[in-house]
Amino acid sequence: MAGKSRWADTEEDAELEAKLKRDKEEKKRLKAEEKARKAAAEAEWEQKRIASRAQQEQALATEPTQHTNSEPATKRRRGKATDEDSSTGESSAKLLRFEAPTWKPTASVENYDKLNDIEEGTYGWVARAKDLRTGKVVALKRLKLDEAVNGAATSRAGLPETGLREIQILKDCSHRNIVGLHEVVLNDAAASYSNTNRKEPIEAVFLVLEFVEHDLKSILEDMAEPFLASEVKTLLRQLGEGVAYLHAHWILHRDLKTSNLLLNNRGQLKIADFGMARYVGDPAPPKLTQLVVTLWYRSPELLLGASTYDASVDMWSVGCIFGELLAREPLLQGRNEVDALSKIFELCGVPTEESWPGFRRLPNARSLRLPSSSNAPAAVTGSMIRAKFPLLTAAGCQLLNALLSLDPRNRPSAADMLRHEYFTQDPKPKHEAMFPTFPSKAGQERRRRRETPNAPGRGQKAPASVDFSGIFAGREREERGGGFSLRMI
Ligand SMILES: Nc1ncnc2c1ncn2[C@@H]1O[C@H](COP(=O)(O)OP(=O)(O)O)[C@@H](O)[C@H]1O
Ligand SMILES: [Mg+2]
Repeated sequence: MAGKSRWADTEEDAELEAKLKRDKEEKKRLKAEEKARKAAAEAEWEQKRIASRAQQEQALATEPTQHTNSEPATKRRRGKATDEDSSTGESSAKLLRFEAPTWKPTASVENYDKLNDIEEGTYGWVARAKDLRTGKVVALKRLKLDEAVNGAATSRAGLPETGLREIQILKDCSHRNIVGLHEVVLNDAAASYSNTNRKEPIEAVFLVLEFVEHDLKSILEDMAEPFLASEVKTLLRQLGEGVAYLHAHWILHRDLKTSNLLLNNRGQLKIADFGMARYVGDPAPPKLTQLVVTLWYRSPELLLGASTYDASVDMWSVGCIFGELLAREPLLQGRNEVDALSKIFELCGVPTEESWPGFRRLPNARSLRLPSSSNAPAAVTGSMIRAKFPLLTAAGCQLLNALLSLDPRNRPSAADMLRHEYFTQDPKPKHEAMFPTFPSKAGQERRRRRETPNAPGRGQKAPASVDFSGIFAGREREERGGGFSLRMI
């Protein structure tokens, strides 16, 4: 190319040819420049798009019901806008690929054949059902709709926030110790119209869950012999693993209790019932609802009106469940908030400024009349856990005491708990496959209504002020039972 053309036999020709060549080269250069400019513009546009996506993601993540990702949302595309960069562009584009929303008609509950009711509770029902397409047995959980909306059967029919959270969180979770959600289905009419402009009222929303044979509460109620120490360890470890997964993903369950823990016939424990769960950030939002967690599993800071709390409320419930697995009955069966607190103080000791610095600043603690730490006998401020569980090993007692620390800051995290020596000491946790099997209540035609308390409903009010003046005094004046006589004003 660079050599003289064999056709250029005159100087003029040669000059013309050289000019043509220059023109051609100039054109080529301009073309390359144009290409580079285009690529740069494209890269800039791409960066802007990524940045705005990242902003959107961040905005979503800070919204209370949204998933807060612990990973940085995006990685900006660095690099020059040249063709050679397309390989690096490709690799960063891989990192930045977002799942496009897919819209498809919601499936109908008609695809399922109900086999039997498992539980009919305050908030809806759960039934065992068969997927007619695959023959697989599943659990159908019908979510309660807002009454006003449901009653009026308007086209505005919708789910309460709790239902939406339950769906969202279960959809995001994938862990062997968390119940699996297969799909969400609607009543037939709503499902068949969900992909058109016509608005049929949604009468019911169902979660299609993996079917699990038992819940721990039913097992504990029915079993002839208590769990062995090695079995309690396996169950607690699985609970810890599930809770550690939730907390690592910024999810607080806020209603951990034995009826929300399922156990299959292969000894696997699964955390269920995410009706009270929510995403939180770090630090947790300043105003969370205090009315969470079923009374018997509710932590002292919640009972004292704390509105900032964190994963340690779940760890308190884990402590209550640990005690219940050992004792075969709920550990702290308070009749109301005040009774619940007095039962906690009876078991764990009365809080002092040393054992729980700053607890007096909690809203309901202001009216709390407790023995002052200087003159309180150790019997009142000390824990009774050792005495209540004489068969528990020293490590087990230490762990239970730690989980039931009055001061939430002293409770171990789920990850800490799993590293506790209790799990490595003898007796070793029993292998799941060696777990005993139990007759499944959920597999039988049976309706149960439980008399045990439920998680607080929305709009329920916490007690405004509490009089604890009688605590640990005048036991002889108590009207009945072994609790303390406390009054609510
Ligand atoms: N996936 C499931 N498989 C079998 N039984 C289940 C399943 N999910 C829930 N149940 C049973 O139904 C009961 C209520 O379910 P849950 O999700 O806790 O609803 P609620 O919000 O009414 O408490 C549980 O205590 C358990 O006995
Ligand atoms: Mg439940």
